[in-house]
Amino acid sequence: MGKEFKRHLITSALPYANGPVHIGHLAGVYVPADIYARFLRLKGEEVLFIGGSDEHGVPITIKAKKEGCTPQDVVDKYHNIIKDSFQGLGISFDVYSRTSSPTHHKTAAAFFKKLYDEGKFVEKESEQYFDPETNTFLADRYITGTCPKCGAEGAYGDQCEKCGSTLSPEELINPKSSISGGELVKKPTKHWYLPLDQYEGWLKQWILEGHKEWKTNVYGQCKSWIDGGLQPRAVSRDLDWGVPVPVEGAEGKVLYVWFDAPIGYISNTIELLPNEWEKWWKSEDTKMVHFIGKDNIVFHCIVFPSMLKAHGDGFILPENVPANEFLNLEGDKISTSRNWAVWLHEYLVDFPGKQDVLRYVLCANAPETKDNDFTWKDFQTRNNSELVAIYGNFVNRAIVLTHKYFEGKVPAVGTLTDVDKEVLAEIPQIKASLEHNLSTYKFREALKDAMNLARLGNKYLTETEPWKLAKTDMERVATILNISLQLCANLAIAFEPFLPFSSEKLVKMLNLEKISWSEFGGNILADGHQLNPAELLFAKVEDAEIQAQIDKLNATKAANEAAAAEAAGTPAPLPQKEECTFDDFMKMDIRTATVLEAVKVPKTDKLLQLTIDTGIDTRTIVSGIAEHYTPEEMVGKQICILANLAPRKIKGIESRGMILMAKDESGRMRFVTPAEAVDNGACVG
Ligand code: MF3
Ligand code: ZN
Repeated sequence: MGKEFKRHLITSALPYANGPVHIGHLAGVYVPADIYARFLRLKGEEVLFIGGSDEHGVPITIKAKKEGCTPQDVVDKYHNIIKDSFQGLGISFDVYSRTSSPTHHKTAAAFFKKLYDEGKFVEKESEQYFDPETNTFLADRYITGTCPKCGAEGAYGDQCEKCGSTLSPEELINPKSSISGGELVKKPTKHWYLPLDQYEGWLKQWILEGHKEWKTNVYGQCKSWIDGGLQPRAVSRDLDWGVPVPVEGAEGKVLYVWFDAPIGYISNTIELLPNEWEKWWKSEDTKMVHFIGKDNIVFHCIVFPSMLKAHGDGFILPENVPANEFLNLEGDKISTSRNWAVWLHEYLVDFPGKQDVLRYVLCANAPETKDNDFTWKDFQTRNNSELVAIYGNFVNRAIVLTHKYFEGKVPAVGTLTDVDKEVLAEIPQIKASLEHNLSTYKFREALKDAMNLARLGNKYLTETEPWKLAKTDMERVATILNISLQLCANLAIAFEPFLPFSSEKLVKMLNLEKISWSEFGGNILADGHQLNPAELLFAKVEDAEIQAQIDKLNATKAANEAAAAEAAGTPAPLPQKEECTFDDFMKMDIRTATVLEAVKVPKTDKLLQLTIDTGIDTRTIVSGIAEHYTPEEMVGKQICILANLAPRKIKGIESRGMILMAKDESGRMRFVTPAEAVDNGACVG
């Protein structure tokens, strides 16, 4: 802490370009990183905020196989979706590039080459699983088998998704190729290893002694890795997608994705600032902070720092790694493969102009110290009763009243009362707390501070009621509105890191040129300053909008359950039919009726001929229920019929209507009957 830095290098985990970005990524990494970057810029600090797509690794090759295209096609598609959606949400990267870029390939290869030339790697030949059918060594992800820890089928060679254990392919019981489904053989192959064991003492010093201030979850994970004893890690793979290993005799080998990806932070800096990048990466005056999710901790705290250390050349290390836990969705783990997610690019289409609402909710619920849950109900409540009812309402009242009583010009203050003084005294206090929380990565607390400033304003107006004083004491009204408007200007600053779109709107309403953190805390608007017309900062989120999102998730859930049931061999209910209109439904004349007589239709197995009292007439209906009911069972039963079905001749008998039956997937049929007896001919609908 004590140390002063000249500039801030902020990195955010490079998302895999094998799918779009969802709210879990946002809450864990990109929203906090963006808040931090915006806060520092507002303070006038020199900031570089790095983003980019991670385009290598096995999942991308798997996706390409599945979709029948090349890995490059996959990353092109998702890189663009991800990049555009980040921009749509106002994530203010200074650069957003990609690890398939030539600059990155060059940078990563050179990095490896230097370590290689200086003998920093250990070369080892080992026996690894080989798929004779596809003639390839299999990446851990391609190998599936039974989990040795929990016994689940279909565990991957690197992880069991059922129990979360980290695995190696050797541990799997009965390992198979997930590509060919076939048996595997072991074959020798050569790889390069970063001997992390040699860095253990240094890591202990640097993290366990030197960074006790890191978040408990981060420090704890580092401690348990280091205490558990570090092993050499392979930094190459037998794969044809990635950065080729730049040494002789390494045909068919690429850099391990977790070796090349963090170098992407450097490559992207080089791409943006080819002549100046070193001041960002090799100066003790730079404070580097990595924003990541908890599954990335070991790579950013142990592996990448060891790589930088091994490289020498004065690379700096991160000052902090404020990793977050995970966000769940409606009580369930977010999953790309199960499509259980709120996708950013879809949100931006479904909720145009509401970027700040998502930013607000994700920050307010950020999984900073434990996993958290996102629910659509909470999203609605936070919008309607916090953003609209507190922040938006306050700003709107202050600006509308100024237009009403003072032609939109900031009125001068008169004598200050105790209430006024208290309110004014609170602004710098809130600023101090906000600043402390933002500087120490407590973004939820910081957001609460900002909201407290809005609450303060709202309460102030409600208590002083200037609209009532307007008839008797215009000088008092002037004072109250001046203070309220100063609060509005302070709010525009306080909220900018969190809600940049709303701040921009508010700055426009207040007719300000630009805002800066240094102005925050006191009077910002001069007497007589002309305001622009009021606009609503936030709009209500209606029940129907929320219901539409919940329906979408329910459809996903149903589809997943059907797929699971099908995989398990139990039939699932048929999917919902195409939507019909109310008018479509109203055309159907469904009524209660009673069966008077029932006989089997001769020479058939399935048909019963029924005589029905429909309340409006007595008629004949032929129905295919003979395998489910005997004639005796049917007589006297009250049923429901579709009365206006066009008459049809069945086996020479005219049938007028249809009996409503419920049929489940096993084929069992039951007639539908009213819960209590009602008159025949009662309309159902
Ligand atoms: N793609 C990785 C993930 O989504 C993160 C890579 S971060 C980097 O988990 F440091 F490697 F870039
Ligand atoms: Zn398991």
